[in-house]
Amino acid sequence: MAPISAESIYQDLKLKLHDVVPDVELRLKSDIAYEINRLKKERNAVILGHNYMEPALFYSIPDYVGDSLELSRIAGKTDKDIIVFCGVRFMAETAKILSPQKTVLIPAKKAGCSLADGITAEDVRQLKAQFPGVPVVTYVNTTAEVKAESDICCTSSNAVAVVQSLKSETVIFLPDEYLARNVARETGRHIIFPSLTGGQPATDTLLDKPVIGWKARCEVHEKFSVQDIQDIRKQFPDVLVLSHPECSPEVVAASDFSGSTTQMIRHVQQTHAPRYLLLTECSMGDNIMAANPEKNMLRLCSIRCPHMNEITMEDTLEALQKTQYVVDVPEEIRVRAYRAVERMLSIIPKASD
Ligand code: 13P
Ligand code: SF4
Repeated sequence: MAPISAESIYQDLKLKLHDVVPDVELRLKSDIAYEINRLKKERNAVILGHNYMEPALFYSIPDYVGDSLELSRIAGKTDKDIIVFCGVRFMAETAKILSPQKTVLIPAKKAGCSLADGITAEDVRQLKAQFPGVPVVTYVNTTAEVKAESDICCTSSNAVAVVQSLKSETVIFLPDEYLARNVARETGRHIIFPSLTGGQPATDTLLDKPVIGWKARCEVHEKFSVQDIQDIRKQFPDVLVLSHPECSPEVVAASDFSGSTTQMIRHVQQTHAPRYLLLTECSMGDNIMAANPEKNMLRLCSIRCPHMNEITMEDTLEALQKTQYVVDVPEEIRVRAYRAVERMLSIIPKASD
Protein backbone atom coordinates (compact mmCIF):
# COMPACT_ATOMS: atom_id res chain seq x y z
CA MET A 1 0.00 0.00 0.00
CA ALA A 2 1.38 3.44 -0.98
CA PRO A 3 1.87 5.87 1.93
CA ILE A 4 -0.98 8.36 2.26
CA SER A 5 -0.44 11.65 0.42
CA ALA A 6 1.09 14.82 1.85
CA GLU A 7 -2.32 16.46 1.37
CA SER A 8 -4.11 13.89 3.54
CA ILE A 9 -1.40 14.20 6.22
CA TYR A 10 -1.92 17.98 6.10
CA GLN A 11 -5.72 17.64 6.41
CA ASP A 12 -5.31 15.34 9.41
CA LEU A 13 -2.77 17.61 11.12
CA LYS A 14 -4.93 20.67 10.43
CA LEU A 15 -7.92 19.02 12.05
CA LYS A 16 -5.95 18.19 15.18
CA LEU A 17 -3.47 21.06 15.44
CA HIS A 18 -5.07 24.18 13.92
CA ASP A 19 -5.07 25.81 17.38
CA VAL A 20 -1.49 24.83 18.14
CA VAL A 21 0.68 25.01 15.01
CA PRO A 22 0.56 27.78 12.34
CA ASP A 23 -0.91 26.65 9.02
CA VAL A 24 2.22 27.39 6.98
CA GLU A 25 4.22 25.15 9.29
CA LEU A 26 1.65 22.37 9.01
CA ARG A 27 2.00 22.46 5.18
CA LEU A 28 5.77 22.23 5.44
CA LYS A 29 5.67 19.45 8.05
CA SER A 30 3.15 17.44 6.02
CA ASP A 31 5.53 17.35 3.05
CA ILE A 32 8.37 16.20 5.29
CA ALA A 33 6.12 13.64 7.01
CA TYR A 34 5.12 12.21 3.63
CA GLU A 35 8.76 11.73 2.65
CA ILE A 36 9.62 10.19 6.06
CA ASN A 37 6.71 7.75 5.85
CA ARG A 38 7.64 6.78 2.28
CA LEU A 39 11.27 6.16 3.25
CA LYS A 40 10.26 4.35 6.43
CA LYS A 41 8.38 1.80 4.33
CA GLU A 42 11.16 1.51 1.76
CA ARG A 43 13.77 0.90 4.47
CA ASN A 44 11.60 -1.42 6.55
CA ALA A 45 11.88 0.89 9.56
CA VAL A 46 9.66 1.52 12.56
CA ILE A 47 9.46 4.97 14.19
CA LEU A 48 8.92 5.19 17.94
CA GLY A 49 7.89 8.57 19.34
CA HIS A 50 8.00 9.57 22.99
CA ASN A 51 4.99 11.46 24.39
CA TYR A 52 7.14 14.63 24.59
CA MET A 53 7.63 14.94 20.84
CA GLU A 54 6.38 18.19 19.33
CA PRO A 55 2.78 17.95 18.07
CA ALA A 56 3.35 17.88 14.26
CA LEU A 57 5.90 15.10 14.62
CA PHE A 58 3.88 13.24 17.25
CA TYR A 59 0.79 13.08 15.02
CA SER A 60 2.35 12.30 11.65
CA ILE A 61 5.31 9.91 11.62
CA PRO A 62 5.53 7.52 14.62
CA ASP A 63 4.14 4.02 14.27
CA TYR A 64 3.93 3.94 18.05
CA VAL A 65 3.91 6.65 20.69
CA GLY A 66 4.16 6.16 24.43
CA ASP A 67 6.14 6.48 27.64
CA SER A 68 9.56 4.93 28.26
CA LEU A 69 8.16 1.58 29.36
CA GLU A 70 5.73 1.18 26.48
CA LEU A 71 8.35 2.12 23.89
CA SER A 72 10.88 -0.30 25.42
CA ARG A 73 8.39 -3.15 25.16
CA ILE A 74 7.71 -2.31 21.50
CA ALA A 75 11.42 -1.94 20.68
CA GLY A 76 12.04 -5.41 22.10
CA LYS A 77 9.40 -7.00 19.88
CA THR A 78 9.64 -5.27 16.50
CA ASP A 79 10.35 -7.30 13.36
CA LYS A 80 11.53 -4.24 11.38
CA ASP A 81 15.19 -3.86 10.33
CA ILE A 82 15.59 -0.29 11.62
CA ILE A 83 14.26 1.40 14.75
CA VAL A 84 14.22 5.21 14.52
CA PHE A 85 13.86 6.53 18.05
CA CYS A 86 12.26 9.97 18.31
CA GLY A 87 13.20 10.45 21.93
CA VAL A 88 16.40 10.94 23.91
CA ARG A 89 19.56 8.84 23.84
CA PHE A 90 18.89 6.65 26.88
CA MET A 91 15.65 5.53 25.23
CA ALA A 92 17.41 4.66 21.96
CA GLU A 93 20.11 2.83 23.92
CA THR A 94 17.46 0.81 25.73
CA ALA A 95 16.02 -0.15 22.33
CA LYS A 96 19.49 -1.32 21.24
CA ILE A 97 19.96 -3.26 24.49
CA LEU A 98 16.71 -5.12 23.80
CA SER A 99 17.08 -5.51 20.03
CA PRO A 100 20.82 -5.82 19.33
CA GLN A 101 20.33 -7.26 15.84
CA LYS A 102 18.44 -4.14 14.70
CA THR A 103 19.92 -0.87 13.49
CA VAL A 104 18.84 1.77 16.01
CA LEU A 105 18.93 5.40 14.89
CA ILE A 106 18.48 8.61 16.88
CA PRO A 107 17.83 11.71 14.74
CA ALA A 108 19.96 14.07 16.88
CA LYS A 109 23.45 13.31 18.12
CA LYS A 110 23.14 15.10 21.46
CA ALA A 111 19.61 14.57 22.86
CA GLY A 112 20.86 13.65 26.33
CA CYS A 113 19.16 13.87 29.72
CA SER A 114 20.23 15.59 32.95
CA LEU A 115 19.43 12.43 34.92
CA ALA A 116 21.53 10.17 32.67
CA ASP A 117 24.36 12.71 32.96
CA GLY A 118 24.00 12.77 36.75
CA ILE A 119 25.64 9.45 37.61
CA THR A 120 28.46 7.24 36.29
CA ALA A 121 29.03 3.49 36.36
CA GLU A 122 31.93 4.12 38.76
CA ASP A 123 29.56 5.91 41.18
CA VAL A 124 27.32 2.82 41.15
CA ARG A 125 30.28 0.48 41.72
CA GLN A 126 31.31 2.55 44.75
CA LEU A 127 27.79 2.46 46.20
CA LYS A 128 27.65 -1.31 45.72
CA ALA A 129 30.97 -1.69 47.55
CA GLN A 130 29.68 0.58 50.31
CA PHE A 131 26.39 -1.32 50.71
CA PRO A 132 27.22 -4.92 49.77
CA GLY A 133 24.25 -7.15 49.00
CA VAL A 134 21.77 -4.28 48.71
CA PRO A 135 19.91 -4.51 45.35
CA VAL A 136 20.43 -1.67 42.90
CA VAL A 137 17.39 -0.28 41.08
CA THR A 138 18.16 2.23 38.34
CA TYR A 139 15.76 4.46 36.49
CA VAL A 140 15.90 3.83 32.73
CA ASN A 141 17.01 7.47 32.38
CA THR A 142 20.63 6.28 32.67
CA THR A 143 23.45 5.21 30.36
CA ALA A 144 23.87 1.58 29.31
CA GLU A 145 27.03 1.43 31.50
CA VAL A 146 25.00 2.39 34.58
CA LYS A 147 22.26 -0.11 33.71
CA ALA A 148 24.96 -2.78 33.39
CA GLU A 149 25.89 -2.21 37.07
CA SER A 150 22.27 -2.58 38.19
CA ASP A 151 20.11 -5.48 39.33
CA ILE A 152 16.92 -4.16 37.82
CA CYS A 153 15.70 -1.06 35.98
CA CYS A 154 12.46 0.84 36.41
CA THR A 155 10.53 3.61 34.71
CA SER A 156 8.23 6.20 36.21
CA SER A 157 5.25 3.92 35.52
CA ASN A 158 6.54 0.87 37.41
CA ALA A 159 9.07 2.20 39.95
CA VAL A 160 6.90 1.34 42.97
CA ALA A 161 6.09 -2.15 41.62
CA VAL A 162 9.78 -2.80 40.91
CA VAL A 163 10.85 -1.81 44.44
CA GLN A 164 8.02 -3.88 45.93
CA SER A 165 9.03 -6.88 43.81
CA LEU A 166 12.42 -7.11 45.53
CA LYS A 167 12.91 -9.34 48.53
CA SER A 168 15.16 -6.80 50.23
CA GLU A 169 13.66 -4.10 52.45
CA THR A 170 16.63 -1.84 51.73
CA VAL A 171 17.25 -0.75 48.14
CA ILE A 172 19.68 1.51 46.32
CA PHE A 173 17.54 3.63 43.96
CA LEU A 174 19.40 5.73 41.37
CA PRO A 175 19.85 8.43 40.18
CA ASP A 176 16.72 10.65 40.48
CA GLU A 177 16.52 12.22 43.93
CA TYR A 178 12.88 13.19 43.56
CA LEU A 179 11.65 9.93 42.04
CA ALA A 180 13.47 8.09 44.85
CA ARG A 181 11.81 10.26 47.48
CA ASN A 182 8.39 9.73 45.86
CA VAL A 183 8.91 5.96 45.67
CA ALA A 184 10.18 5.85 49.27
CA ARG A 185 7.01 7.58 50.45
CA GLU A 186 4.74 5.27 48.47
CA THR A 187 6.48 2.13 49.67
CA GLY A 188 6.68 3.23 53.32
CA ARG A 189 10.45 3.61 53.37
CA HIS A 190 12.66 6.50 54.34
CA ILE A 191 15.51 7.76 52.21
CA ILE A 192 19.19 8.38 52.90
CA PHE A 193 21.76 10.06 50.67
CA PRO A 194 25.16 8.67 51.68
CA SER A 195 28.43 10.37 50.84
CA LEU A 196 30.76 8.11 48.88
CA THR A 197 33.46 6.48 50.99
CA GLY A 198 35.67 5.46 48.07
CA GLY A 199 34.15 1.99 48.02
CA GLN A 200 34.69 1.22 51.74
CA PRO A 201 31.72 -0.53 53.36
CA ALA A 202 29.47 2.00 55.12
CA THR A 203 30.01 2.11 58.85
CA ASP A 204 26.68 3.74 59.72
CA THR A 205 24.01 1.21 60.59
CA LEU A 206 21.17 1.41 58.15
CA LEU A 207 17.95 2.43 59.79
CA ASP A 208 14.77 0.51 59.19
CA LYS A 209 13.80 0.06 55.48
CA PRO A 210 15.86 2.78 53.82
CA VAL A 211 16.06 3.74 50.16
CA ILE A 212 19.61 4.76 49.38
CA GLY A 213 19.37 7.60 46.89
CA TRP A 214 21.47 9.85 44.70
CA LYS A 215 21.08 13.56 44.03
CA ALA A 216 20.53 13.86 40.30
CA ARG A 217 17.45 15.70 39.07
CA CYS A 218 15.46 16.26 35.92
CA GLU A 219 16.27 19.80 34.85
CA VAL A 220 12.68 20.23 33.61
CA HIS A 221 10.62 18.80 36.47
CA GLU A 222 12.68 20.35 39.25
CA LYS A 223 11.42 23.75 38.03
CA PHE A 224 7.82 23.22 39.15
CA SER A 225 6.97 24.48 42.63
CA VAL A 226 4.18 24.19 45.19
CA GLN A 227 3.75 27.95 44.79
CA ASP A 228 2.87 27.38 41.08
CA ILE A 229 0.10 25.00 42.16
CA GLN A 230 -1.22 27.32 44.87
CA ASP A 231 -1.32 30.25 42.44
CA ILE A 232 -3.24 28.24 39.86
CA ARG A 233 -5.68 26.84 42.41
CA LYS A 234 -6.41 30.38 43.61
CA GLN A 235 -7.33 31.38 40.06
CA PHE A 236 -9.03 28.08 39.08
CA PRO A 237 -10.23 26.29 42.24
CA ASP A 238 -11.71 23.43 40.16
CA VAL A 239 -8.48 22.59 38.32
CA LEU A 240 -7.16 19.02 38.39
CA VAL A 241 -3.37 19.07 38.73
CA LEU A 242 -1.25 16.25 37.34
CA SER A 243 2.48 15.96 37.94
CA HIS A 244 5.24 13.63 36.79
CA PRO A 245 7.01 11.76 39.64
CA GLU A 246 10.29 13.46 38.64
CA CYS A 247 8.77 16.55 40.36
CA SER A 248 9.63 17.17 44.01
CA PRO A 249 7.65 15.18 46.63
CA GLU A 250 6.11 18.46 47.79
CA VAL A 251 4.80 19.16 44.27
CA VAL A 252 3.57 15.58 43.91
CA ALA A 253 1.79 15.80 47.28
CA ALA A 254 0.11 19.06 46.26
CA SER A 255 -1.10 17.50 42.97
CA ASP A 256 -4.27 15.47 42.41
CA PHE A 257 -2.54 12.76 40.34
CA SER A 258 1.02 11.71 39.62
CA GLY A 259 2.19 9.19 37.04
CA SER A 260 4.24 8.48 33.95
CA THR A 261 3.57 10.47 30.80
CA THR A 262 1.14 7.85 29.46
CA GLN A 263 -0.53 7.45 32.87
CA MET A 264 -1.15 11.21 32.89
CA ILE A 265 -2.60 11.10 29.37
CA ARG A 266 -4.94 8.26 30.37
CA HIS A 267 -5.98 10.05 33.53
CA VAL A 268 -7.03 13.12 31.55
CA GLN A 269 -8.90 10.93 29.05
CA GLN A 270 -10.71 8.95 31.73
CA THR A 271 -11.75 11.74 34.10
CA HIS A 272 -14.16 14.64 33.79
CA ALA A 273 -12.62 17.66 35.46
CA PRO A 274 -13.59 21.17 34.34
CA ARG A 275 -9.92 21.90 33.58
CA TYR A 276 -6.49 20.28 33.82
CA LEU A 277 -2.98 21.48 34.57
CA LEU A 278 -0.02 19.31 33.61
CA LEU A 279 3.24 19.75 35.47
CA THR A 280 5.52 18.19 32.90
CA GLU A 281 7.19 18.93 29.57
CA CYS A 282 4.90 21.37 27.74
CA SER A 283 4.57 19.59 24.35
CA MET A 284 2.56 16.88 26.01
CA GLY A 285 -0.22 19.34 26.96
CA ASP A 286 -0.55 20.29 23.29
CA ASN A 287 -0.61 16.64 22.24
CA ILE A 288 -3.36 15.81 24.74
CA MET A 289 -5.37 18.84 23.73
CA ALA A 290 -5.15 17.88 20.06
CA ALA A 291 -6.53 14.39 20.73
CA ASN A 292 -9.15 15.57 23.24
CA PRO A 293 -10.48 18.93 22.01
CA GLU A 294 -13.34 18.77 24.52
CA LYS A 295 -10.86 18.84 27.44
CA ASN A 296 -9.88 22.18 28.89
CA MET A 297 -6.10 22.08 29.29
CA LEU A 298 -4.58 25.11 30.99
CA ARG A 299 -1.70 26.12 28.74
CA LEU A 300 0.44 27.73 31.37
CA CYS A 301 3.48 25.55 31.03
CA SER A 302 6.34 26.77 28.90
CA ILE A 303 9.06 24.38 30.01
CA ARG A 304 10.37 22.39 27.08
CA CYS A 305 12.97 19.68 27.62
CA PRO A 306 15.97 20.97 25.63
CA HIS A 307 17.00 17.38 24.83
CA MET A 308 13.63 16.21 23.51
CA ASN A 309 13.54 19.47 21.59
CA GLU A 310 16.62 18.34 19.64
CA ILE A 311 14.47 15.81 17.77
CA THR A 312 12.96 17.42 14.68
CA MET A 313 11.20 16.07 11.61
CA GLU A 314 13.95 17.45 9.38
CA ASP A 315 16.56 15.47 11.33
CA THR A 316 14.35 12.38 11.34
CA LEU A 317 14.19 12.51 7.55
CA GLU A 318 17.96 12.88 7.37
CA ALA A 319 18.36 9.99 9.81
CA LEU A 320 16.51 7.70 7.40
CA GLN A 321 18.25 9.09 4.33
CA LYS A 322 21.77 8.79 5.74
CA THR A 323 21.28 6.00 8.30
CA GLN A 324 22.39 8.30 11.11
CA TYR A 325 23.01 8.48 14.05
CA VAL A 326 23.60 4.82 14.75
CA VAL A 327 23.26 3.90 18.44
CA ASP A 328 25.63 1.15 19.54
CA VAL A 329 26.26 -0.44 22.92
CA PRO A 330 29.40 -2.58 23.43
CA GLU A 331 28.29 -6.22 23.70
CA GLU A 332 29.91 -6.81 27.10
CA ILE A 333 27.92 -3.89 28.54
CA ARG A 334 24.77 -4.71 26.60
CA VAL A 335 24.40 -8.25 27.97
CA ARG A 336 24.67 -7.01 31.55
CA ALA A 337 22.33 -4.07 30.94
CA TYR A 338 19.90 -6.45 29.18
CA ARG A 339 19.50 -8.49 32.38
CA ALA A 340 18.42 -5.41 34.34
CA VAL A 341 16.02 -4.16 31.64
CA GLU A 342 14.58 -7.61 30.93
CA ARG A 343 14.02 -8.24 34.63
CA MET A 344 11.99 -5.02 34.77
CA LEU A 345 9.97 -6.02 31.69
CA SER A 346 9.14 -9.38 33.23
CA ILE A 347 7.21 -7.65 36.01
CA ILE A 348 3.61 -8.05 34.90
CA PRO A 349 1.99 -4.61 34.67
CA LYS A 350 -1.18 -3.93 36.62
CA ALA A 351 -4.23 -3.11 34.51
CA SER A 352 -3.77 0.55 35.51
CA ASP A 353 -0.13 0.76 34.31
P1 13P B 1 8.04 8.57 31.04
O1 13P B 1 8.62 7.21 31.19
O2 13P B 1 7.00 8.89 32.05
O3 13P B 1 7.57 8.77 29.63
O4 13P B 1 9.19 9.65 31.36
C1 13P B 1 10.33 9.84 30.62
C2 13P B 1 10.95 11.11 30.90
O5 13P B 1 12.07 11.37 30.50
C3 13P B 1 10.22 12.07 31.72
O6 13P B 1 10.93 13.23 31.86
FE1 SF4 C 1 15.63 13.87 30.98
FE2 SF4 C 1 14.00 15.55 32.21
FE3 SF4 C 1 14.30 15.74 29.59
FE4 SF4 C 1 12.98 13.65 30.66
S1 SF4 C 1 12.37 15.81 30.70
S2 SF4 C 1 14.53 13.56 29.07
S3 SF4 C 1 14.14 13.35 32.57
S4 SF4 C 1 15.90 16.10 31.15
